[in-house]
This record gives sequence, structure tokens and C-alpha cells, in this order.
Amino acid sequence: MDFTALLLIVHVFMCLSAVTSPQDSCGQRLLVIPYGVSRIVGGREAPEGAWPWQVSIQMHSRHYCGGTIVSSLKVLTAAHCFHKLKISTKHLFVVAGLQVLSTPGIQTQTRSISQVQMNEDYNIATSDNDVTLLFLSSPFHFTDYIQPICTPHNVTHEFTLNFSHCFITGWGSKYYKGELMNRLQEAEVVLIDRRTCNQFTWYNGLVTENMICAGLKSGGSDSCQGDSGGPLQCYSEDEDRFYVVGVTSFGIMCGLPRKPGVYARTSRFASWLNQSQPASGSGVHGPNTRLISALLCAALMWLLNIPTICQQ
Ligand code: ARG
Repeated sequence: MDFTALLLIVHVFMCLSAVTSPQDSCGQRLLVIPYGVSRIVGGREAPEGAWPWQVSIQMHSRHYCGGTIVSSLKVLTAAHCFHKLKISTKHLFVVAGLQVLSTPGIQTQTRSISQVQMNEDYNIATSDNDVTLLFLSSPFHFTDYIQPICTPHNVTHEFTLNFSHCFITGWGSKYYKGELMNRLQEAEVVLIDRRTCNQFTWYNGLVTENMICAGLKSGGSDSCQGDSGGPLQCYSEDEDRFYVVGVTSFGIMCGLPRKPGVYARTSRFASWLNQSQPASGSGVHGPNTRLISALLCAALMWLLNIPTICQQ
């Protein structure tokens, strides 16, 4: 085999891995450093660009659930946001880089949804496995305002990450039965172990091992209606990045003592998150498109003799 052919093969492999491998950069905020040390009780307006993986899922241009960018084509959200949905995904859009609902800035990017993949084991009665993946019709372009978050590899990994600060974010209401907030809100919470959360005067056994509670024992720092599907995100000091630890799922009213928010625990869905692929024929980056783009990319790299031009 001559040298040029060998070079081309190497380029195809380099490109294939660039096109197929998951984002190696995740959970990094490019506009806000590191996490803000003060404790937040209740919510406050989030600084611009502080949560670049937070999206608003909108129906007929109205926010109805939150979501989290896990890769350029995938958004993680709650299954209950889609369970009772009668309308087709034609009217649904995912908006990223958004701060103020009523006035999307030039940093926002809007994508339609090519496929909704609910977790097969979602149980509407118990809210167990309340996770859904949305596959976008075209990828988000990552910017300072739009970034993917990291996902824990498994439950052990979640423990070893040694989270120091956790936050919840969303446009949900400030109090039970209140109105949506126009500006993205954030609140600091602490993770509450399942045993505590399942105590008789708390959730009395409703919290399964696929759920994680977060809030303050005294109440007052909680997600609420409209925050569903959005992230419970924790900062790992060792790695200097954020992980999505939970997906906003349910709670009894909002902010009550001993009734913290309950979140779908992402570390329990790690393999589901990585295995999940859009069904074939959905038009989202099938293997053929991937191969074609890798070949094109390799040819271009080879012609121009440039080492890296194909990062997604
Ligand atoms: N199910 C709610 C939603 O659809 C989220 C409620 C969270 N409640 C709570 N107290 N943390 O937006």
C-alpha cells in the first residue's frame, strides 16, 4: 500500500472519531466563573450564560418544560412532559441560549425535534424513570451561551465526583400555582439521601432508587411547575465542571419543609442515555451520513493537509 493511501485511511479514522465520539468538553461555563460561593435560599435571577445547557421546550412558542443539552443533537428532559402530549412534535421547539422568555436574544438557537424517545420503563403512576431524550433535527452549534453538560457514567462515578455545590434552574413559577418567570432563575440546593427523603413525614416511601431528592431540609429552595425536565446540576471541584445529576420530576407543592424536589437520577440511566439512538429512518445522522461526512472530511483534510477541521 502506498504512503498516500495509508495517509487517507488514517484521516478517515481520525474524522470518524471526530464525528462519532461524544463531546469531550462538557459541563464548562465559559461566561461565569466557577459557581458563586454564596448560599442561595429561594431563587434568584441567573447571570447571563451561567447555565449554557439549559433549554426551554416550547409549544406554539410558549415555554412548557425545561431540558438539558447532553450533546449537540440530544436534549434530556422529563417523560411526564411528553406523556399526555396530544399534539405532534411539529409544534414543538427546543430553544437554547435563552435568558428571557419574552425576548430571545441573538445568542438563541431554535431546533425542531425529529424524535422523542421516552424511557420504556416510565411509570406514570409512580413517576419512576421520568426521563425522555429528544433528538433534534439539526445540531446546536456550541457557543459561549450554548454548551453540553456532562453526564455521570454510573452510580459509583456519581459518588466519586464529590460534588460541592448543586443548583436547580428554570423558568418555573416562584411559588405553587404561580406564573412562569420571564427570566431564568437559579437556586442552590443540597442532595438529600433517599432514606431521609423516604421518611414517614417526608415522602413516605415514594422515592425509588431511580430518583434523588434535593432542596433544603427547611424547604424554601425548590423547583416548581414549569421547571420540569430541567437540570439538577452539580459542580465537581476535582474536575472543574458541572454534571447533570437529576431531571426535575415532581414534588408536593413547592418549597415546603420536608417536601424537597424529586429528580430522576441520571446516573441510573447512564447506559440508556448513551445507547439511545434515534430510530433508523428518522433522518438524524444515521451511519451513512456519518460515513459520508467522515469521508468528505478526510478528503478535505488530506487535500489541504490540515490536521483538525472536522469537530462537530
Ligand atoms: N412537575 C413539575 C413540572 O411539570 C415540577 C414540579 C417540581 N415540584 C417541586 N416541588 N419540586 O414542572
